[in-house]
Amino acid sequence: MASEINYMSGFGNEFETEALPGALPVGQFTPQKVKYNLYTEQFSSTAFTAPRAANRRTWLYRLRPSVVQGEYTAIDNALIRTAPITEAITPPTMMRWSPIDIPTQPTDFIDGLITMAANGSANGQTGMGIHVYVANSSMQERYFCNADGELLFVPQHGELLLHTECGKLTVKPGEIAVIPRGIKFSVDLIDETARGYICENYGHAFELAERGPVGANGYANDRDFKYPVAAFEDKEGSFELVTKFNGHLFSCPITHSPFDVVAWTGNSAPYKYDLARFNVINTVSFDHPDPSIFTVLTSPSATEGMANVDFVIFPPRWMVAENTFRPPYYHRNIMSEFMGLIEGVYDAKEHGFVPGGASLHNCMSPHGPEAEVFEKASNAELAPQKYENTLAFMFESRYIISPTKYALEGKERQTNYTQCWRSITKHFTGEE
Ligand SMILES: [Fe+2]
Repeated sequence: MASEINYMSGFGNEFETEALPGALPVGQFTPQKVKYNLYTEQFSSTAFTAPRAANRRTWLYRLRPSVVQGEYTAIDNALIRTAPITEAITPPTMMRWSPIDIPTQPTDFIDGLITMAANGSANGQTGMGIHVYVANSSMQERYFCNADGELLFVPQHGELLLHTECGKLTVKPGEIAVIPRGIKFSVDLIDETARGYICENYGHAFELAERGPVGANGYANDRDFKYPVAAFEDKEGSFELVTKFNGHLFSCPITHSPFDVVAWTGNSAPYKYDLARFNVINTVSFDHPDPSIFTVLTSPSATEGMANVDFVIFPPRWMVAENTFRPPYYHRNIMSEFMGLIEGVYDAKEHGFVPGGASLHNCMSPHGPEAEVFEKASNAELAPQKYENTLAFMFESRYIISPTKYALEGKERQTNYTQCWRSITKHFTGEE
């Protein structure tokens, strides 16, 4: 499936793509008439007045403008929640969850979306929603649009085909995809079932982290981000557009496929990235660098250096540090950390944190290696070691992350999580 799909490369480029020859106007955006009698529509992800370097918008040339649709009707939010979370008190407790089971009754991406936590305020365009999706069916004759934020897909199980207004992308475990706020899309399952994580970024759109003295190359390289080419369908029928707006779901009838964009040009479009392309940079001397060294994408806040959201990965890598406690150090942090595991084992937690599961360590809540890992790593022979079969990630944010009622009370919550630190004992004797 993936081999049939073509992409353009380069993060945030000003792309040009057309599915029919000459569909894209030359030298201007809004000619009086567009070839093939297409309609012109501008899609703006930033304010018109955003500085040029930050400005994101795309011009779409389509069979009908998006305004050709029915009326919105509010529908049940099911287990989807939006910040601010007010249904439960947020405790400082360190928390962990087992994976959510994939249902047996027919469940598509929208039906299977469960919010685990959120922070900031969608309405105020700060923070994020953190969701898990579990699905066993493709979306049939319905489409989704999220006005509350861009969606970062982190698949953990099962490959997805994302149909979007800008074209098609596939994304499988080990890859990520980002769909801009407001882009209409549908999710088809390539495998029989699917599970994964979603970061719904209410804030500044994700961008690539700075490299500092590392220089012009390394970490996530721009060229490895893939954008779809225009691919349209001319399909009429009785369909549903589900829109998430200001924390609520709305249903709207639509009599045609919204994937009717014949050509587009611009820099706001869905994209994908293979996490194996991340050029890992780490210590070759001693000590454990801060995890920010593994940042793939960052959504900045108004305070420099304090991200609205950082997307950080812990990929396979060599560990060569000498005279160093190699797992993550014990710490307390102003930033709040939600973690998930795509595959394998994470080096600070060898038990209980399993693929598809999650953990939350909020602002100033202490955390670090479990007792067993501390003992092992403190006494290990420090030969060069390849960390293989591991891919964890973190959504890290300056805003306190509030779990939903489902996350707090659902059966996946491991209420005994903090026991993993209970057997940490005092080794101090007064002797060196
Ligand atoms: Fe941490």
